[in-house]
Amino acid sequence: MSNPSILILPGDGIGPEVMAEVKKVISWYGAKRDVQFDVSEDLVGGSAYDAHGTPLHDDTMAKAQEVDAVLLGAVGGPKYDALDFSVKPERGLLRLRKEMDLYSNLRPAQCFDALADFSSLKKDVVAGLDIMIVRELTSGIYFGEPRGIIEEGNERVGINTQRYTESEIDRVARSAFELAMRRGKKLCSMEKANVMESGILWREVVTEVGKDYPEVELSHMYADAGAMQLCRWPKQFDVIVTDNLFGDLLSDAAAMLTGSLGMLPSASLGAPMANGRPKALYEPVHGSAPDIAGQGKANPIACILSFAMSLRYSFDMGAEADRLEAAVEKVLADGVRTADLLGEEGVTPVTTSEMGDAIVSALDASL
Ligand code: IPM
Ligand code: MG
Repeated sequence: MSNPSILILPGDGIGPEVMAEVKKVISWYGAKRDVQFDVSEDLVGGSAYDAHGTPLHDDTMAKAQEVDAVLLGAVGGPKYDALDFSVKPERGLLRLRKEMDLYSNLRPAQCFDALADFSSLKKDVVAGLDIMIVRELTSGIYFGEPRGIIEEGNERVGINTQRYTESEIDRVARSAFELAMRRGKKLCSMEKANVMESGILWREVVTEVGKDYPEVELSHMYADAGAMQLCRWPKQFDVIVTDNLFGDLLSDAAAMLTGSLGMLPSASLGAPMANGRPKALYEPVHGSAPDIAGQGKANPIACILSFAMSLRYSFDMGAEADRLEAAVEKVLADGVRTADLLGEEGVTPVTTSEMGDAIVSALDASL
């Protein structure tokens, strides 16, 4: 059987720096665990635009469809702000999500003990937090038609459309229930059924799917109240399922509960391929952070934990994912900090590369 294949798309800003640390981890698995991956690399976002005039070349799109997993760094930057909307770096990422049909976006928010003091919330609110947001990723207002800016009378009108079919809601709900079954068996669905018809349908379909998962305790919340509850007492949640736009907002809010956006990985999963593995793309939740790019200040942990998610969800190597997550936890417990995690007195930050090295050393120590 051939080796599992990974396409690396470092992207823009800090993307290439954090991805360099993931490559160290991949090499470690090859050398020390005899887990070999066929790794190829390509461009996405602004760097693809610079090379090809498009944020995602068709050849790259085709490659992404063939591999077992795509690992993406980050896209975007001020250099590309003036570009036409159709070729902005973000369009490359959205095309990958849409054409690979990655409808289920898993965004864990986990507060490492060593970092509980870094959250802007009180320590007892976040310590031990471990929740999972499942965000619908290929539909809703991000992709609904009609859309655009049109002329009407003597002014312009900006239009986007929230649209969800029953089957789109059904499949993401099922993936959230499946996850809940493997975790704390609690699922909270968030929409605005008080204002939006799409929210009414969302609630009905999720309730219907719930009948197939009687062991899971299902609750519903309006998304605005959900945002409030996430800040008030986040530990009441286990798995949250929500639409594309609400999921974008709620996952950024949840990220701050953990102390740093630099910590959070994500997995975007689609339907199973012929080999049984799901179509999959893994990326940190953080952006390209152009203000610190190229300075060795970025935290590579979110990207490394994204690779850990690929071990778990694409490659059926849950024990190795546990090993990598434990290595990250060990390094943090030892007080190793990148610049985004400073706050304690007398701690000197390590560089991006030193953080990667520390994690590889912790992996060595785990053998
Ligand atoms: C995210 C990002 C993206 C989104 C952008 C970069 C298109 O904010 O992954 O959360 O809005 O989905
Ligand atoms: Mg976002």
